[in-house]
Amino acid sequence: MAETIYIVDDNDLNLKIVSAALRSVGYEVATAQNAAEVLANIGTVQPALAILDVMMPDMDGYELCRRLRSRPETSNLPIIILTTLSELDERLKAFEAGADDFIAKPFNPKELQARVKVLLRRFTPQEVPITTLQAETTAIFSLRGGAGVSTVATNLSVGLAQIWPLPVCLVDMALINGQSALMLDLALRNGWGDLVGVRANEIDSEILQQILLSHESGLQVLASVKRFEDAELLGIDQVQQTLGLLKRQFEYLVFDLPHDFSVTTIAALDAADRIVLVLSPELASIRCASIALEVFEKLNYAPEKIKLLLNWTFSGKGLARSEIEKAIKRKIDIVLPNVGDALVASLTYGKPPVFQDPNGAIGALFEDLAYHWSKESHRLSAPQTKKDGYNRVRERVRTRQKSG
Ligand SMILES: Nc1ncnc2c1ncn2[C@@H]1O[C@H](COP(=O)(O)OP(=O)(O)OP(=O)(O)O)[C@@H](O)[C@H]1O
Ligand SMILES: [Mg+2]
Repeated sequence: MAETIYIVDDNDLNLKIVSAALRSVGYEVATAQNAAEVLANIGTVQPALAILDVMMPDMDGYELCRRLRSRPETSNLPIIILTTLSELDERLKAFEAGADDFIAKPFNPKELQARVKVLLRRFTPQEVPITTLQAETTAIFSLRGGAGVSTVATNLSVGLAQIWPLPVCLVDMALINGQSALMLDLALRNGWGDLVGVRANEIDSEILQQILLSHESGLQVLASVKRFEDAELLGIDQVQQTLGLLKRQFEYLVFDLPHDFSVTTIAALDAADRIVLVLSPELASIRCASIALEVFEKLNYAPEKIKLLLNWTFSGKGLARSEIEKAIKRKIDIVLPNVGDALVASLTYGKPPVFQDPNGAIGALFEDLAYHWSKESHRLSAPQTKKDGYNRVRERVRTRQKSG
């Protein structure tokens, strides 16, 4: 039997458009024009999913969503909110109200159909094959450019690949202008752009295997698009599907994020187990970090999920660590010293220090950090195949223990 979608909108024309889009792909549709009607009838309608418009005369869509969430019989109902206003602000409001997704108007019928399908599938219990992995996912982020996000992301991911004989993937989420392929001296043969035109539900592990680039360290890379126009053509559903698949295919994922809160960035932040917020010791960077922390709080991220990395991108006088901690009301977790021109050379040749010189101070620092942020289950039992990176890290741990 077809699933029933409950569409709630006071505008007749909108109701018709949304209904037509969903009926055309086989869903049953029930409609209501105000919140009171929904609250009275939802028990009889028993929808599989509800789509709520925001602007309604008696009660807005957010409030209706909150009411539905507070009732036991609809507390788990998949809910999409239809909005017209600016993205982040509306998304935050929609999520605060307990919605599962939101769609901005005017919407494309195909996008609506895809979102409904994805959401319904998410809520249908699926049999998970026992071989499915659960990647430990680290997102590297800064709202301010040039703070060292890509440097940390590339070195951390190569470090993981050097330590563990396990699948590790670096995902360049700066879809338009990401530089991770360049920073690893990989020809930008494939990347996100290859997914343009592929429907989200058709993206599978096989397609992804074909578009990942391979680095000498064993790391795989999902690189940015080749033609910048392609980034515009990638939808959030394609990005979400891809990230979901990668999570199940890899043991470790590292995201190199752009300096924004676009929907794709938020999807990646949502999917991360750990967010490394990078800041440098100057005022604008600290202000950007405060804003980011505020947004993370609104997105309900657990404080433990966020790690602060202070990166001395310049050698001159900067703000003291204690002053920064006071300003952002948070402890800094890791400090990366200024390494002068060392990174410039590595950037020019696409050889990150962790790969080029893993025994040098910067290389070792990143390799040790990669180990520190590895899965506890991996750290607790030595792997059968001990890679060079693993031996180096363990040796450094022993040396540190000896010297107290
Ligand atoms: N600790 C450091 N010491 C010296 N130079 C650094 C340090 N960290 C980063 N840099 C340099 O700062 C520049 C910016 O770094 P990177 O490209 O990693 O930052 P980003 O946040 O990804 O920037 P973008 O805005 O380009 O995405 C690079 O030239 C890099 O080599
Ligand atoms: Mg970058």
